[in-house]
Amino acid sequence: MPTITPNGRVLRPVILVLGCLTFLGYYTYLTSRPPTALYNDLFTSEDEASRKFIHNELGSKYVKFKQLQGAGFNNQAQEILLYHHLALQTSRIYVYQPFIWRPRGEKAEVPLSAFLRGPTEGTISDSAFDEVCPPEDVVRVKLVTNTESQWEHAKSILNSNDRCIVVEDWLFNWNYLASTGIHDIWPSFQKYLANHFKWSDNVLAIVDRTQTKLGLKSRGAPSSSQGSPYIAVHLRRGDFEDHCKYLNTTHQGFTTWGSLPLLRPATYPPALNTTDAASIMEHCYPSLHRILDAISKQARSRGNVRAIHILHDGAWDHPTVYLQFYKLSQALTNERWTTQHGWVGGPMLRVTQSADVPMERGERDWRVCVDVELARRAEVFIGNGYSSLSTQVVALRLGGDGGKVEDITLI
Ligand SMILES: *[C@@H]1O[C@H](CO)[C@@H](O)[C@H](O)[C@H]1NC(C)=O
Ligand SMILES: *[C@@H]1O[C@H](CO)[C@@H](O)[C@H](O)[C@H]1NC(C)=O
Repeated sequence: MPTITPNGRVLRPVILVLGCLTFLGYYTYLTSRPPTALYNDLFTSEDEASRKFIHNELGSKYVKFKQLQGAGFNNQAQEILLYHHLALQTSRIYVYQPFIWRPRGEKAEVPLSAFLRGPTEGTISDSAFDEVCPPEDVVRVKLVTNTESQWEHAKSILNSNDRCIVVEDWLFNWNYLASTGIHDIWPSFQKYLANHFKWSDNVLAIVDRTQTKLGLKSRGAPSSSQGSPYIAVHLRRGDFEDHCKYLNTTHQGFTTWGSLPLLRPATYPPALNTTDAASIMEHCYPSLHRILDAISKQARSRGNVRAIHILHDGAWDHPTVYLQFYKLSQALTNERWTTQHGWVGGPMLRVTQSADVPMERGERDWRVCVDVELARRAEVFIGNGYSSLSTQVVALRLGGDGGKVEDITLI
């Protein structure tokens, strides 16, 4: 029995545990430190490219939007892509701003070109805007309207002849993104994604390395290429339980592209009923049983797909997500279980997860982009219609790649 006297028998384990925690904390700090030198170089080259651009592009029209400052990566990325698309639709040069990297604070800026190349090509950075549009040349406008035709309204204002426009209100506010009004954007946005969506080389290098190491083969890759076709599942947990309860009190449906009518057949039944709290929770925070049923429905008839990659947000503050991953992978690799569920090709031979992505020092900021791209390249994607990561994947598959609705399930 340990006594309360601080003798060696009690103290030694305590010191050991404290030592381990300190080491773990230091290790996490080291590996999560951003690549500051690279980011500084990118800021400089963004600035130089923008200044060169404005001197060669006389007569162009510009637009700078009011953007989100510091929500999650996919919320910011989604908005940036929509604004860049709107600028192109109205023949204006998009003025891009840095990402705000929320985990490191409200003012932590990272260069956009480290993540997305599309919106940083043929555009200018915020740092060059004042030079090409001095304050006396700037016309300030508001775009938000309560009418049904929000998208047409915004385009008509930006179609003006004013050379320099600064938008003062927040067009892609949560209400607009949750409304059916955004469906008007899909036909042209689909083409935008096919022509202008590009990850940075940093992201693509990690994705390629991951596919090689985990043996995951892209949909549509030549049959001679290495790796196995795979299903990607997005397990959205973390802080989502509280978020889902909030969505229930406001009766919200799937976010952005998740609500497109063309995706209705992709929703795992029963259909979402936003006046029913149980239905919202079922889709927003599905049980593991429901997730397994949705996976079975896709995997059952695809005997050639024997690998599954699970994207999740498990972290030191959400450790139970790892337990859930473990339970899923136990079922999916169990021959008896898969036979019971009518799988023709046998159980999964390999189940991998976000934590298996081979990240090197300083690469942590790209983790979420890598998850999105791995899900985009999968044979089948099973995601959460309330999550902006999942709906971004869906948009890229359908819009960017001409993928099929049958290969998508929103739980
Ligand atoms: C859903 O919201 C209603 C109020 O609109 C509340 O009475 C109910 O308890 C909520 N259910 C859950 C599961 O949070
Ligand atoms: C949706 O849920 C509400 C409340 O539970 C219910 O009254 C209504 O019949 C449901 N609608 C459909 C289409 O199932």
